[in-house]
Amino acid sequence: MTQTISINDSGRLQLTPLEIPSRLLLGPGPSNAHPTVLQAMNTSPVGHLDPAFLALMDEIQSLLRYYVWQTENPLTIAVSGTGTAAMEATIANAVEPGDVVLIGVAGYFGNRLIDMAGRYGADVRTITKPWGQVFNLDELQTALKTHRPTILALVHAETSTGARQPLEGVADLCGEFGTLLLVDSVTSLGGVPLFLDAWGVDLAYSCSQKGLGCPPGASPFTMSLRAVEKLQQRQTKVANWYLDMLLLGKYWGAERTYHHTAPINLYYALREALRLLAEEGLANSWQRHQKNVECLWQGLENLGLSMHVEQEYRLPTLTTVRIPTGVDGKAIARQLLNEHNIEIGGGLGELAGKVWRVGLMGFNSRKESVDQLLAALRQVLPK
Ligand SMILES: Cc1ncc(COP(=O)(O)O)c(C=O)c1O
Repeated sequence: MTQTISINDSGRLQLTPLEIPSRLLLGPGPSNAHPTVLQAMNTSPVGHLDPAFLALMDEIQSLLRYYVWQTENPLTIAVSGTGTAAMEATIANAVEPGDVVLIGVAGYFGNRLIDMAGRYGADVRTITKPWGQVFNLDELQTALKTHRPTILALVHAETSTGARQPLEGVADLCGEFGTLLLVDSVTSLGGVPLFLDAWGVDLAYSCSQKGLGCPPGASPFTMSLRAVEKLQQRQTKVANWYLDMLLLGKYWGAERTYHHTAPINLYYALREALRLLAEEGLANSWQRHQKNVECLWQGLENLGLSMHVEQEYRLPTLTTVRIPTGVDGKAIARQLLNEHNIEIGGGLGELAGKVWRVGLMGFNSRKESVDQLLAALRQVLPK
């Protein structure tokens, strides 16, 4: 490792200037940000109540609503924080102590939802599937009938398994029980077809560092009018001040009341990332993700590797690749990083040691990324 801190002759501490290796990030996220987005971050900050910044916040809201999430939800904002902050904002605002919350668990992030909802006093119920599988409508209907929950929470794109949970028809089932539908779209937004209003999703959150091609830290969040109504009728205060939408809504809405100092430059970046996505066209971005991931699957199969998830339910943004018997998965990932500057991820939980996780998200969903990874794998995999 290079020496970065030393003491010079006059006894002063010396640090070498920042030096970060240039990596191709093909793991579960973050993904490399688009160069134009990084350039936008390099713009001098203005105040968080500056008219120019307030106008930019309005643009982010419109871009998120109409170009990315396909929703009319007035309460559509970016939370200052990573995807987990947006997840926590969703749970904190939607759940009141005692609410029955049914969570679909088929991977790591379903479990995180359980932990979070429990901390906000939910009466948590679960429906489970082996990691890598998804729930069908019959299974969801049976669970809804059994638990009659206030909220059903599903992970659209389970990053730990690479599976895409189909959402069409779920809201109709929820309608029978007055259940709100909550969706984690952290690894789907921008890269996987998602129609929030048409599919009847009431609560959704995402992140900036995956399909949107932006650094982490400003995370999309949205609530339907039904969900806002529930929020307004709460008997108890939202137990998280920073993420309370009744307060935050006043900063993002007409009142423009100071709430917190927004991470200004991250919002510049998000605005540019959303602009680039709108310019490309969301449907084109979905197609690009699908086309590139199919090249990846083919290339991996040509190398003798197999995917963990059935093709119909595979995510275009994240692929889980089975580690062949006798191969040291960690050693291969380390070699890709050290010798080829390519990051891929390892398995989590049930899939630890069994799969690699390869992300093709946002700016990184390109033929060049696929080619680079396959060429590197050809060198590092045992013959
Ligand atoms: C499905 C899912 N939900 C939530 C999160 C949490 O997001 P973050 O790591 O940005 O806090 C992640 C992160 O990878 C994720 O993949």
